[in-house]
Amino acid sequence: MYQKLQKCVDCIRKITDFKPQTALVLGSGLGSYVDNRVDIADIVEYKDIDGFPISTVSGHMGRFVFGYVGGTPVVIMQGRVHFYEGYDMPQVVLPARVMGLLGAKTLILTNAAGGINESFRPGDIMMITDHISSFVPSPLAGKNIDELGTRFPDMSEVYSRRLQNIIISAAKEQGIPLQSGVYVQLSGPNYETPAEIRMCRTLGADAVGMSTACEATAARHMGLEVCALSCITNMAAGITGDKLTHEEVRQTAKRASNNFERLITAIIPQIGV
Ligand code: HPA
Repeated sequence: MYQKLQKCVDCIRKITDFKPQTALVLGSGLGSYVDNRVDIADIVEYKDIDGFPISTVSGHMGRFVFGYVGGTPVVIMQGRVHFYEGYDMPQVVLPARVMGLLGAKTLILTNAAGGINESFRPGDIMMITDHISSFVPSPLAGKNIDELGTRFPDMSEVYSRRLQNIIISAAKEQGIPLQSGVYVQLSGPNYETPAEIRMCRTLGADAVGMSTACEATAARHMGLEVCALSCITNMAAGITGDKLTHEEVRQTAKRASNNFERLITAIIPQIGV
């Protein structure tokens, strides 16, 4: 696996020698960030990287964008792959690991998520304070990649307190309402049943989605500092009685994208290294 990662890095290095400080993953419906807020230096299409997984989901593009946000060099994943697409977990987290190997020290993850906490409303932004990933396989299962990290990595602070404090103060400064809570990753691709949502609430989850926790786990394994933001695109199944659709998820993410983009843009230059 490490050789495979190195091959991806070599492939990218033939196209660009850009050195990112921070990595950003854009979730469903949030891809427009690149067009609106990034001073683009280079673009590398996933299809031009040997052995790279390609997203099959509408609303997800497939490329790395290298550029600057407020002067900070960033690498952005415009489009991710998911477990439900049939990729195994090491494949799902490969792009995040590659961004770490390209030099990024911090990783900002974003996603669209269903709100389980009934005080949330569609369009809210939730800062992830912790996650539950016990319902999907660990991306670290299999032979440990010793070059990246230890066999039994600590997960007691997946989402960096330092970065959480930066997010809280940036949201305040920008006048952007901010929720916070625990994210549970389920496998998808079907949305949950109302009974599953009640279970997740009982277990302490505030929002549910089909990504992010696995990438955060892999990033912590390799020592990256991680933070994550969910766009609450809908109330989770059974809360309002409405049916859930991917179209609604995309529409709400688009509606919330202005606040989302402002918040991320305010955070990045404050992260430092
Ligand atoms: N469930 C799972 N994933 C999601 C949801 C949801 O309700 N909304 C957006 N992604």
